[in-house]
Amino acid sequence: MARLSVNIDQIATLRQARLGKEPDPVTAASIVELAGADGVTVHLREDRRHIQDRDLRLLRETVKTKLNLEMAATEEMINIALEIKPDMVTLVPEKRAELTTEGGLDVVMNKEGLSKQISVLKNGGIAVSLFINPEIDQVKAALRVGADYVEIHTGRYADAANKEEGEIEFGRILDATKAASKLRLGINAGHGLNYINIKKISKISEIEEFSIGHSIISRAVLVGLDKAVREMTELVKVNQAVLKQPL
Ligand code: PXP
Repeated sequence: MARLSVNIDQIATLRQARLGKEPDPVTAASIVELAGADGVTVHLREDRRHIQDRDLRLLRETVKTKLNLEMAATEEMINIALEIKPDMVTLVPEKRAELTTEGGLDVVMNKEGLSKQISVLKNGGIAVSLFINPEIDQVKAALRVGADYVEIHTGRYADAANKEEGEIEFGRILDATKAASKLRLGINAGHGLNYINIKKISKISEIEEFSIGHSIISRAVLVGLDKAVREMTELVKVNQAVLKQPL
């Protein structure tokens, strides 16, 4: 049975909108775990637009399942990972101007650099996953550079404009997954997965872990809104009732 790692970056995005203390991704991580998630994922971006160094430090202390750190393969991030020691690092390409991670890593073209970076991380006791597009060449290169896992980019499947396009992208994911499985790489998948498109892809038995963030946090906002408004309505009413009483 596949595992679910919940990406809580968007909780931090909401907090950073006010540069305040809430909602706290560290509290969110505990709720995610209490709800049955198998892991917590955060992406510490170079521009710190959502997750902060403080979050990562505290999450390392509080996460009881599995902490997956998504990060660019830079010297700064590798040093942070070696200090914090997440259970797994997922290396992703990172561009400053992008809204979210856009494509997979080009492992084929960066074999030498990645091999060195992966061995530094693995020597530090951290499992390493590479976020790649569903392409056989990238899967093979991931094995060659010493990765423990690949995370198959599901974004093009998730964003497919129609059924035919979706089928083609699904086929690519299936082929890449089968190839990774033959090479005995661990297999994760994620990006753009939601409550609808997960149904088909979760049938691929070789995928060990799904990394899902935006759709879960979006749903939480909507399904939690009713309760939150009721609680505030109650407080507003209670205060009015108190004011009406003689002092
Ligand atoms: N996997 C990777 C490598 C990502 O960069 C992201 C987005 O941060 C995800 C999974 C989760 O994607 P989403 O938020 O669309 O579920």
